[in-house]
Amino acid sequence: MPQSLPNFIAKTKPLLMGQLDQLTQFNLEDPRQQLATAMRHTLLAPSKCFRGLLVCATHRIFSDTVDTILPVACAIEMLHTGSLIYDDLPCMDNDTLRRGQPCCHCLFGEDIAILAAYTLQCYAYEILNKPTNFDPKNQLAMMQFISQACGIHGIAGGQALDLIQARSSEKISPVETIHALKTGATIVACVCIPAILHGADPTTLDTLKKTGSHLGLLFQIVDDILDVVSPSETLGKTANKDSEQNKFTYISELGLAGAKAEAQHQADCAKKQLDSLNYPNNHLYGFVEWAQTRIH
Ligand code: IPE
Ligand code: IPE
Ligand code: MG
Ligand code: MG
Ligand code: MG
Repeated sequence: MPQSLPNFIAKTKPLLMGQLDQLTQFNLEDPRQQLATAMRHTLLAPSKCFRGLLVCATHRIFSDTVDTILPVACAIEMLHTGSLIYDDLPCMDNDTLRRGQPCCHCLFGEDIAILAAYTLQCYAYEILNKPTNFDPKNQLAMMQFISQACGIHGIAGGQALDLIQARSSEKISPVETIHALKTGATIVACVCIPAILHGADPTTLDTLKKTGSHLGLLFQIVDDILDVVSPSETLGKTANKDSEQNKFTYISELGLAGAKAEAQHQADCAKKQLDSLNYPNNHLYGFVEWAQTRIH
């Protein structure tokens, strides 16, 4: 019998958090330790670890052990956390609350917060580059995949569209494109990384890519929905932020009922892809349900 997703999370999340803690114990004896403290402030604050856990869960399709994939899952969480620190800056979403705590820049200043995000992202690549037992060719392919998911074809490109759209009166690109880039690409990477590392066949990789893109879109549609239906205390971030900042979201485009219907559609599409994956007992169905039914 496969473990249920809550059991898997209960077992894996402490390993992930423990390793994130260990990896960022720089113990510097000079004021650079402030930078380390700023990184750790947001990285180790209570979060879902959705992406890191997704990497570990997908890895179970190919391997029984979690040890080999944990550093990769940590690196993904560092890349993601860095993107959140940037996202909250006054020049971007101008937020003050993240993961139930003051945003990084609110406590450490914008200068140190920018450096914290930058350092988390550089460090993530340092970790991903370390020699492993995976085939170096596959490891290199994984690095390329992740780099693309963070750059102009991923987070950075999507965030640019998100910000440029918010100050434009004309529609510059479909909301689906913005969401697929700023959030979807990383989630696609999470489900593809283990397949790439294990040299999975092209059909499996393609199915995982499609699953990830539906899951990623679902995740950001629900983020848009939660912005209007969940209070700040539950979200751990400021509620009702999107309309206040003229953000182009599934709510502004389709309204609450339309956004919920689209979330359902994306969840159905993701599950349909999983049905065609020749591995029935995986946790990915659970991740689709988690993404759809979460309250924060
Ligand atoms: C928030 O991500 C930013 C989005 C891409 C929607 P999460 O909802 O995964 O936030 P944490 O990591 O749990 O704090
Ligand atoms: C941010 O989207 C996506 C990122 C890539 C960081 P949002 O701006 O909607 O994320 P939240 O709502 O602040 O977490
Ligand atoms: Mg944003
Ligand atoms: Mg934001
Ligand atoms: Mg949001």
